[in-house]
Amino acid sequence: MTTQKNAPEVGREQWTGQLGFLLAAIGSAVGLGNIWRFPGVAYENGGGAFLVPYLVALLTAGIPILLLDYSLGHRFRGSAPLVFRRLGRRLEGLGWFQVAIAFVIATYYTVIIVWAIRYMLFSVNLAWGDDPTTFFVADFLQDAGTGYSGDFVGGIFWPMLGLWLVTLLVLGFGVAKGIERLTKIFIPLLVVLFVVLVVRALFLEGAAEGLNAFFTPDWSALAQPGVWVAAYSQIFFSLSIAFGIMITYSSYLKRRANLVPVSYVAAFANSSFELLAGIGVFATLGFMAAQQGVAVGDLEGLTGVALSFMTFPQIISMMPGGPVFGVLFFASLTLAGFTSLISILQVVSAAFQEKFGLSRVQATAVIGGLCAVISLALFSTTTSLATLDTVDKYTNEVGVVASAILTCVLVGLVTRKVPTLRAHLNYVSTARLGSWWSAMITVVVPLALAYILVTTAMELFRQPYEDYPWSFVNGFGWGAIAFMVAVAVAFSLLPWRRPVDEFTPETLQEVTR
Ligand code: ALA
Repeated sequence: MTTQKNAPEVGREQWTGQLGFLLAAIGSAVGLGNIWRFPGVAYENGGGAFLVPYLVALLTAGIPILLLDYSLGHRFRGSAPLVFRRLGRRLEGLGWFQVAIAFVIATYYTVIIVWAIRYMLFSVNLAWGDDPTTFFVADFLQDAGTGYSGDFVGGIFWPMLGLWLVTLLVLGFGVAKGIERLTKIFIPLLVVLFVVLVVRALFLEGAAEGLNAFFTPDWSALAQPGVWVAAYSQIFFSLSIAFGIMITYSSYLKRRANLVPVSYVAAFANSSFELLAGIGVFATLGFMAAQQGVAVGDLEGLTGVALSFMTFPQIISMMPGGPVFGVLFFASLTLAGFTSLISILQVVSAAFQEKFGLSRVQATAVIGGLCAVISLALFSTTTSLATLDTVDKYTNEVGVVASAILTCVLVGLVTRKVPTLRAHLNYVSTARLGSWWSAMITVVVPLALAYILVTTAMELFRQPYEDYPWSFVNGFGWGAIAFMVAVAVAFSLLPWRRPVDEFTPETLQEVTR
């Protein structure tokens, strides 16, 4: 009955079961954000004290929006544009805005995975030599600063092309045979590798001092709005929420799916992994500080790209058994990143399949191919580093936060669908979701995020990010946001190839079948 009244449901892909979905959701959440971003962000924003805004962000926005994404995808059964269209004809643009965010993130996410793959190999013979910073910036990236050089770096271009081909192949195999199978192998492997790595790190000389530096709270940091912005955007990026991933993934679940407990397990697994990464990374930094006879706080290069690709190689060179440690670290980064990359691209592919009536393989080839070309053109050149930094900053702290606010406002206040979605979640789940969730989605999250977005935007207008030239941050930072808005407007004006508006969500009785 459902399939007749809801045409695009015909032949919709499905996870083989709840475990497959849970692993894929964890695979998506646990990514570069956990290993590459979290330890540095936490350290920069108050160390141990950062765990307070982090937990507040997780509980007040992370888990509520994760549940919102799950309920939207599961009830309205589609990619982000289709789900928002079914919520209200004029809302489709928000879905495309999310698709555009995923598209942009995918373009630079790939290059970081390529760096990790190359560094996994460099670890074997410590190819970075005595000066890993010069090696990374000058020899490996051949960095030419800001601007757009158009000069390709062969050592990045070719592996990146290979990574794109493998990624598109996995996506071409589909949800159950591609994504789910891959995740079932990669996630357990990642956990084993990473636990070995962290245990090894904890036994290094100086590890305790590293952990002290990580966990010693700087409470004054909590008074700075920037720390709260960092916590909320870390949670969004890390949980893969508010940019279409969890909407798309939950749309492939069978009708009966225990969504509420699954969301708690996924969020708990993600944050545990994040914390584990923080512990592993800072125990390792403690070792470096001990070798140099300085305090951990006096070390340089503790954040972002520098932490993983400059400071870590330096430590690996100093450490007994360094090559093995290096291979484990960069292999973990690669595995975690790859399962997330797949989920990011599935957002784009699913949207194009549904809107333009393309087959999975056609959508993967067309849209994945386009994303690959842009990604190679921008991020395998000598100007990739500053571009990546800028696009990442604006996409996450402006694009994703704006998307989360719009989702809450449109679902909670405009269409007033929160009670229906809560009833849906409660009906399909064994755990009950209280009215606190509705209050979060309609009031707390949009207000908190609006404050955060305004603070970030004012800062970005006041001073160019990282003191890059204004023309550069405007072009790549605000340019990325303008691209997302343009995609949202343009694609929502185009017609659907299949009738999508006759969709009627099941009654709760039908959901159980
Ligand atoms: N959730 C993914 C990450 O943390 C995108 O990297």
